[in-house]
Amino acid sequence: MLKIFVGTMYGGALDVAEQVKPLFEEAGYEVAIFDQPTLDDLIGSPTDLALFCVSTTGSGDYPGNFMAFARDLEAKSPGLSGLRYGLIALGDSSYGETFCGAGRQLDELLAGQGAQRLGERLEVDAMETFMADDEALPWVEAWIESQQLKVA
Ligand SMILES: Cc1cc2nc3c(=O)[nH]c(=O)nc-3n(C[C@H](O)[C@H](O)[C@H](O)COP(=O)(O)O)c2cc1C
Repeated sequence: MLKIFVGTMYGGALDVAEQVKPLFEEAGYEVAIFDQPTLDDLIGSPTDLALFCVSTTGSGDYPGNFMAFARDLEAKSPGLSGLRYGLIALGDSSYGETFCGAGRQLDELLAGQGAQRLGERLEVDAMETFMADDEALPWVEAWIESQQLKVA
């Protein structure tokens, strides 16, 4: 089972989740997308692999639909040592220092809980890439390959 957790304002990150879902299905996974994620979606059932698709709003802030998840993760500090994850951050470099701030914060939060990121974080810059999918799809293909995530 692969769980995809989405933080989005305008749907770009959700679109990425929906577009990459078939790639994981082809790789042998059952996929669940959480677009109103709660901490229980992550820890309520065993999760060894997750993908986070999260955009940034405000100045480096989590989108509204993702705030409860991030707040609870920080407050309850459940420990995530069995979790491996990938992270796709959507942002816009015209925001300067807060570029992909939500994705970066989340990455730190997950690492602080003992989760292990597989590969590098993808940061999609809306200044350069109009449709985040265009960058996310090949990245996920390469991620599945390089991290040997195919289920036999
Ligand atoms: C009000 C507002 C604030 C934003 N603040 C940031 C920011 O601080 N850092 C950043 O990298 N992108 C920022 N963005 C850009 C969005 O993250 C980017 O457009 C992203 O692709 C939106 O994805 P979504 O469709 O999933 O919400 C902001 C966009 C808006 C409209």
